[in-house]
Amino acid sequence: MNTVKDICRRIVGGGYVYSKNAYPYMATIWYLDSEEFKFKSGAMYIGKRYFLTAAHCTRKKDIRMMLVRMGDTNLKKLPKTYRVVKVHTHPNFNSNTLHNDIAIIEVDKDVNVEPVRLVCEHLRDFCYNFGVIVKVLGFGKDCASSTQQYLMNMKEVDLKIKPIEESRYHRSLITSEMFLAGNIIDGKIVDACTGDSGGPCLCNIKGKWVLIGIVSWGSGCGKKDLPGVYTKVISFLPWIRSICKFGVCNNHDF
Ligand code: ARG
Repeated sequence: MNTVKDICRRIVGGGYVYSKNAYPYMATIWYLDSEEFKFKSGAMYIGKRYFLTAAHCTRKKDIRMMLVRMGDTNLKKLPKTYRVVKVHTHPNFNSNTLHNDIAIIEVDKDVNVEPVRLVCEHLRDFCYNFGVIVKVLGFGKDCASSTQQYLMNMKEVDLKIKPIEESRYHRSLITSEMFLAGNIIDGKIVDACTGDSGGPCLCNIKGKWVLIGIVSWGSGCGKKDLPGVYTKVISFLPWIRSICKFGVCNNHDF
């Protein structure tokens, strides 16, 4: 039986986030759509006036029709709004294969929020190891069906880094600049889904969250042996540095 209800029951899972201070860098992208700004996808504040997101969340969009909003866990009450002055899409982004699915959004004013820490080379062996527990945040749908409304509140879910061999994806689809993460909690498959795109995948280092991935794609949501596919942030540190002009690796206290 593959009714909508059946699909909905096994997607995403995880729990709601109610503390504003838990993930202050979590941001959202909104687009003007029939005279109204609508929530589209996730993003995260990385410092100065820059936000990181997935390239597929920004393509072919006029910056005058975009907003970045943040500052609460309730999608309807986000107090901070920024206009977009520039979108830096990765030069090798391929919208068909979703290779290099990463973009940097530059906004019009200073963002007085603590940025997320970006993964650093010395954390590679720890954070991207198979079995490591990571956290994904999003405001996305909790159902693969388009009839479901977007969730109004931020959610979090714990996933594990998975090897390609344990998935049903064809090897050629998953590049070394991507990684997989999925999990089964209380017998239910958990996953990110539509609308979570562009949001963060975080690794915990000594109690602090470090950004290691960007929600990029997946074959459906919450399907067996088809975990979510994430942009591997560590592969793009030189590119991020070339645009943001700051150190990027600010984790040296770890
Ligand atoms: N690419 C989709 C989006 O634009 C969802 C990505 C995540 N999918 C997944 N099954 N983990 O929102």
